[in-house]
Amino acid sequence: MIVLGIETSCDETGIALFDTERGLLGHTLYSQIEMHSEYGGVVPELASRDHIRRVLPLIQQTLFAAKCELPEIDAIAYTQGPGLAGALLVGASIGAALSFALKIPALGVHHLEGHLLSPLLSTPAPGFPFIALLVSGGHTQLMRVDAAGQYKLLGETVDDAAGEAFDKTAKLLGLGYPGGAALSKLAQLGQPGRFKLPRPMLNSGDLNFSFSGLKTAVLTLINKHEITPQTCADIALAFQDAVVEVLTEKSLAALSQTGFTQLVVAGGVGANDQLRQNLSNKAALRGATVFYPELEFCTDNGAMIAFAGAMRLQTMHKEDWQPASSFTVKARWNLEMLGGSDN
Ligand code: KG4
Ligand code: ZN
Repeated sequence: MIVLGIETSCDETGIALFDTERGLLGHTLYSQIEMHSEYGGVVPELASRDHIRRVLPLIQQTLFAAKCELPEIDAIAYTQGPGLAGALLVGASIGAALSFALKIPALGVHHLEGHLLSPLLSTPAPGFPFIALLVSGGHTQLMRVDAAGQYKLLGETVDDAAGEAFDKTAKLLGLGYPGGAALSKLAQLGQPGRFKLPRPMLNSGDLNFSFSGLKTAVLTLINKHEITPQTCADIALAFQDAVVEVLTEKSLAALSQTGFTQLVVAGGVGANDQLRQNLSNKAALRGATVFYPELEFCTDNGAMIAFAGAMRLQTMHKEDWQPASSFTVKARWNLEMLGGSDN
């Protein structure tokens, strides 16, 4: 079965073709980051308009590169939410229109389900059950994953997401938007131990997180010190150390609480080298293994949506595979509610 995946939830247009027998046939991505960086964040209306410009040419490009024709596609998976309503509507309407025209099923996929299943696109892939640490620009959650579609929230951020904290701190350090990767690069030049920032909620006794206080702590450091390139690097390192330690300790606590031995890290912050090293080392000491998506599948992409859609379709009865007659998007959507009647 060949599934066309369409991702348009935020500022990346991602298209992919996933074949349940041959694996990923191809994928393309257009990032709007340059357009939004001028404004210091994503401008929703500009995002929607740009998705409209990109989505059809990218579908054609992906089909061409994979030597695949439209009639060969068996199903469409599009991101139905959560995300920016206008941006989601672009992918959903194209997905539904193609489904109607080709008389093939269309399925709305949860964006975070795409992220947390994305490590299954790599080899070796984890088997069920596992703990998933979802760390993106909009979410920071620890989920218990018993099977595809069976997710239980164990803990989440009570304020800023980890990626959001990286982006806001990067902005304070003059690194532009989105600044997670740039901050991480700058931290490599930092002197270990020069500054120590708090570890928010490290000992809260639950699996929740809080990152909004860290940017205030960073701002205090910036106001107190002469801002040289070295000081910026030292602050970047101190910030990254704090986030990485909290994410690592809470992930290990989730493994201990459930007795699971596999941890999957998904979302843009999962590209962070220091987080990867720290998690892998500490998990190995406890006999646990950490799985990461390929770097290109850490941030938003169409492959994870095509893959999550394919997994979901395989668990459905064929008679429920219907071409779209209408579509809806869900700007807010709780992952634990998956498996309901909306799909
Ligand atoms: O998953 P994603 O593409 O988008 C959302 O769905 O939110 O994640 C984007 C986030 C941004 O906040 C970005 O700064 C962060 O991931 N990010 C990083 C790194 N690369 C991307 N954060 C820390 N270190 C990185 N290397
Ligand atoms: Zn995402």
